[in-house]
Amino acid sequence: MKAEALKVRSAGSQSVLVPTMGALHRGHIELIREARRLAGAKGSVVLSLFVNPTQFAPGEDLGKYPRTLEADIEVCKTEGVDVLFTPTPLGLYPEGFSTSIDVGSLGTKLCGLSRPGHFNGVATVVVKLFGITAPDIAVFGKKDFQQLAVIRRVVVDLDIGVEITGVETVREADGLAMSSRNRYLDDKARKEATAIAAALKTAAALYSTGEQRSAALVAAALEVLGREVSIEVEYIKVSSAESLEELETVDKKAFLALAVRISGTRLIDNIELC
Ligand code: PAJ
Repeated sequence: MKAEALKVRSAGSQSVLVPTMGALHRGHIELIREARRLAGAKGSVVLSLFVNPTQFAPGEDLGKYPRTLEADIEVCKTEGVDVLFTPTPLGLYPEGFSTSIDVGSLGTKLCGLSRPGHFNGVATVVVKLFGITAPDIAVFGKKDFQQLAVIRRVVVDLDIGVEITGVETVREADGLAMSSRNRYLDDKARKEATAIAAALKTAAALYSTGEQRSAALVAAALEVLGREVSIEVEYIKVSSAESLEELETVDKKAFLALAVRISGTRLIDNIELC
């Protein structure tokens, strides 16, 4: 991979990285298309596929995370990915590996509360992937808005010369954000999961009528989520887009973000308030 990256660099072409954990769906495909657009005809699109163990806590779904390599290869071919990089856990974390990035307070809020260490694991692997693939640009989804905020912070703080681009969340026809974890949902849970996007939309509609108090926006969303008995809300918060601090009033660029559990499956989503 390093040799391939060097070839692209020395040809003076743009290289664009799309980091993924595979089980590619339409959300990933939009990232690939954006990468293809940014790379141009001469540039190179690299897709990394690695289910990163250091971002899963013990008891999370590392073992059962969907692995669909054959189908993912087909997606890469169809979408014009130039290089598919599939390292092994030992390849990235050989014996003696001991360094990791601590992303500080950005990693302890929101999803970080229930997933301690998760964003340190994400930041560490992404910086390693940047080191190996040497991209000019890397593309991430806004669905994981805390992850995007963390990565944007890391590249600034550690002076990493990679431009970060965010892509809008891709949704199913009924609004559910595409996620590799949606395949864990049975029919009943899948139906109930439509309440997630509906709740966010309801709050955003209220915001657009002039309501700026976070408590009122959260209450409106909770009312919709509450109609589905099996949805357990882990958090729902209005957060500043950059610092991720919780806001009482939407007086700067903000997101309403949530994590819920539906019959054991944890799903996240967010909507921009602007
Ligand atoms: P993964 O969950 O495979 O997601 C890879 C990329 O796809 C992320 O940037 C994510 O935000 C984006 N994505 C997922 N669902 C999306 C959707 N519905 N619409 C738009 N983009 C979507 O996120 C990870 O992998 C990992 O944490 C990783 C960054 C690869 C580090 O291991």
